[in-house]
Amino acid sequence: MKHFISIKDLTVEEIYQLLKMAKMYREDDYKITKQIFVANLFFEPSTRTKTSFIVAERKLGLEDLEFATQTSSMKKGETLYDTVKTFEAVGADCLVIRHEHDEWSKSISKDLQIPIINAGSGKKDHPTQSLLDIDTIYQEFGSFKDLKVAIAGDVKHSRVARSNAQLLTKLGVKVYFTAAEDFKETEMGYPYITMDEAVEMCDVLMLLRIQHERHDEFSSSTINYLEDFGLTKEREKNMKEGAIILHPGPVNRGVEIDPDLVECKRSRISKQIENGVYTRMAVLTKQLLEWDIIKESQIRKSPSQITQTKKHKAN
Ligand code: CP
Repeated sequence: MKHFISIKDLTVEEIYQLLKMAKMYREDDYKITKQIFVANLFFEPSTRTKTSFIVAERKLGLEDLEFATQTSSMKKGETLYDTVKTFEAVGADCLVIRHEHDEWSKSISKDLQIPIINAGSGKKDHPTQSLLDIDTIYQEFGSFKDLKVAIAGDVKHSRVARSNAQLLTKLGVKVYFTAAEDFKETEMGYPYITMDEAVEMCDVLMLLRIQHERHDEFSSSTINYLEDFGLTKEREKNMKEGAIILHPGPVNRGVEIDPDLVECKRSRISKQIENGVYTRMAVLTKQLLEWDIIKESQIRKSPSQITQTKKHKAN
């Protein structure tokens, strides 16, 4: 039994199974018929990930447990370890955790008898984000064959860049990075190209937010950031026919992307957020099944859907 911590832990078969399950949830309404509690423990700010996990849980009929660091016993000095053990003891069946430290999972994962889903760990991993990103790409292109993806922006401090590069590589996609000198990370070994090259070559342009909360490296080399390294209206015109724009959000309008392009025809930024609900439903289900917390037979199409299908057949 595995916790859901990093893309590195997933096989290609598991990735395609998750995409298939996300499609199933997108097309039909399913519920888990057993009472299940999920705790969403966010120790870092989040809008998209947290709310889409809550929506995913409620769509599946799971019960989400409230938690806020400011009103929790962490204010009295309780540790992460004791906090998660408390949730396990009160009866949580699964924990969704976001934390600023890269390796937070190492200190707790071996002592828990319930699955953990990583909702973001420092600069290191954001596996559910990359899953929703590839779900969006798959919906658009129907395959990953021969695709070229440029991941552009603050690569050095981005967990989204790391997880996406790992996941896309597993799927055979050619990955490029583009970044200002201060934001380059070279250990991963992906080739760097300029933003002008990226727009001309790539099918997917994945923009990244400057992660101000993780550094203060917005130096003189990045003062004209949009013009020098971002997606301007001029550059968008040079994108390939059918090429799309992704951004994990939150967007710094006018920094990594021209404000008018955020909702342009090529943008799939809202679609990514929407897909986050279904891919997270798939991840929750995978973890609950794998840890034997639920059985396949406890995932049921909702009665209204069954009635509709019967009516459709009768007509
Ligand atoms: N993409 C992402 O993780 O957004 P949030 O920080 O709003 O969850």
